[in-house]
Amino acid sequence: MATDDVSVRARDSAKAHRGGTRSESPAPLHFGLKTAPPSKELTDLLVVGAFPGGALAPQAQEIDAASQGKLSALAIQEELDEKAGSSLMLYDLPGTVARRVLVVSLGPRERFGEKAFEDSVRAVAKALLEGKATRATVTLPLAEVPNRSLAWQLQRASCLLADGQYQFDAPKQANGAKKHNVRDITLLIPEKPTEALELAVRRGQAIAQGMALTKDLGNLPGNVCHPGYLADLARSWSKELGLEVEVLERADMEKLGMGSALSVGRASEQPCRLIVMRYRGAKKSAPIVLVGKGVTFDTGGISLKPGEDLDMMKYDMCGAASVYGAMKMAAQLALPIDLVGIVAAVENMPGGNATRPGDVVKSMSGQTIEILNTDAEGRLILCDALTYAERFEPACVIDIATLTGACVIALGTQTSGLYANDEALASELLTCGTDAGDRAWRMPLFDEYQEQLKSNFADMSNLGGRPAGSVTAACFLSRFTKAYPWAHLDIAGTASIGGDKKGATGRPVPLISEFLIKRAERAAAH
Ligand code: BES
Ligand code: MN
Ligand code: ZN
Repeated sequence: MATDDVSVRARDSAKAHRGGTRSESPAPLHFGLKTAPPSKELTDLLVVGAFPGGALAPQAQEIDAASQGKLSALAIQEELDEKAGSSLMLYDLPGTVARRVLVVSLGPRERFGEKAFEDSVRAVAKALLEGKATRATVTLPLAEVPNRSLAWQLQRASCLLADGQYQFDAPKQANGAKKHNVRDITLLIPEKPTEALELAVRRGQAIAQGMALTKDLGNLPGNVCHPGYLADLARSWSKELGLEVEVLERADMEKLGMGSALSVGRASEQPCRLIVMRYRGAKKSAPIVLVGKGVTFDTGGISLKPGEDLDMMKYDMCGAASVYGAMKMAAQLALPIDLVGIVAAVENMPGGNATRPGDVVKSMSGQTIEILNTDAEGRLILCDALTYAERFEPACVIDIATLTGACVIALGTQTSGLYANDEALASELLTCGTDAGDRAWRMPLFDEYQEQLKSNFADMSNLGGRPAGSVTAACFLSRFTKAYPWAHLDIAGTASIGGDKKGATGRPVPLISEFLIKRAERAAAH
């Protein structure tokens, strides 16, 4: 049966996540850092930056001199586009030993900044994915972005270049169509590589690897990536990554009184799990706790969703997937932090045993909830996971969830919604989002909104009505997070994209990684 075939392949892919080798898995990408004259680079592809109109990025000037002005002449003749990231390929450029030279537009010189830099690096990543080069040297205008250090530029560039090579290993018969993979990327910089610069490259690459795992888990179909699959993946990590892993089964959750979380998974053939992972890179410190919404498929339950684009609800575990991605990144970089990941994994299905609108459940905190809409299930699993988090006496708790369609209406697909009960934590996360190119925007948690959650039959209802739907969902969570500094990221709009390029984005792994890396640096400095 076709579905069986898919799950066999997926089991292979779980093995790949655990570090098992498969013959068809691509060779890992290697980054090198050096200072050298670019014209002497013996490589398949040499990438240089240029401003339209003929001005070359500083490192391209050496090549221009070596080619006796041919590079700038061609760049002008061919009228390199104004748009940052557009490019032209040159063959047999005199004075150079590279097989091909890719000239990438940096956009208008006076407007060159972070966005143009990132657009040009993304264009290089795309050219590498679609081209035939096995080895490439990138000189792109490293060290030129105003107000950003060379280390920042190297971390962003290596992350974008590595992330740009991501391909989902789809179970298609014509998988021979899989694109060629670049193996070696050398980043040429104008100053001598230091330990700190090498570290920046490793960080960028580790973030991209975390994103790749997050994308893989998101892209797997709901018949493969179910709560048991996520639990098995975590268990396999206890050996491979040295994480402490505990999986709570339904009976354990019953004993803890998690009536709210359990109400969501009732009608699924796949029993729900609470998956707890701990990476101890530091001893004797209050841990950072990440909590992920892991609804492996959200039908809406008895409050069934309409059919259009319903397949996208396999992405309703992307919060959980980003917790896995961040744990992997932290372990790979051996960050000196204590990090706990809690994933509430359930499948939200209708059925004879399903929760009905109007049902009242008791959460682990003791607060009762009238479930007015079974499609507002994310908050029902998160509230119990957030109460469970108290036992770690955390330094802070960040939950990550594809929580509300209303957040997509408010912020679209570019920006995640950020809520917090702690000002310092909120601004720290906003800065990390900006630095990592994975932005969030602060949303309000004013007490006045809490009234929308009133119920005649329980301490609260799980439904706040249409106005401010993302805010009232966060207000619901805030009732369970009074014991610690807490932030909530609503990633409903940012975790996946639909249409032609349908897929998981790997967000907010860059934001969370930046946060963990900065916290680790802070801890190391003390
Ligand atoms: N998983 C959805 C939110 C969602 C919507 C994520 C679109 C990604 C894209 C969530 O469980 C949900 O169904 N929320 C409802 C809440 C409502 C019933 C209060 C929504 O947003 O409509
Ligand atoms: Mn839902
Ligand atoms: Zn959902």
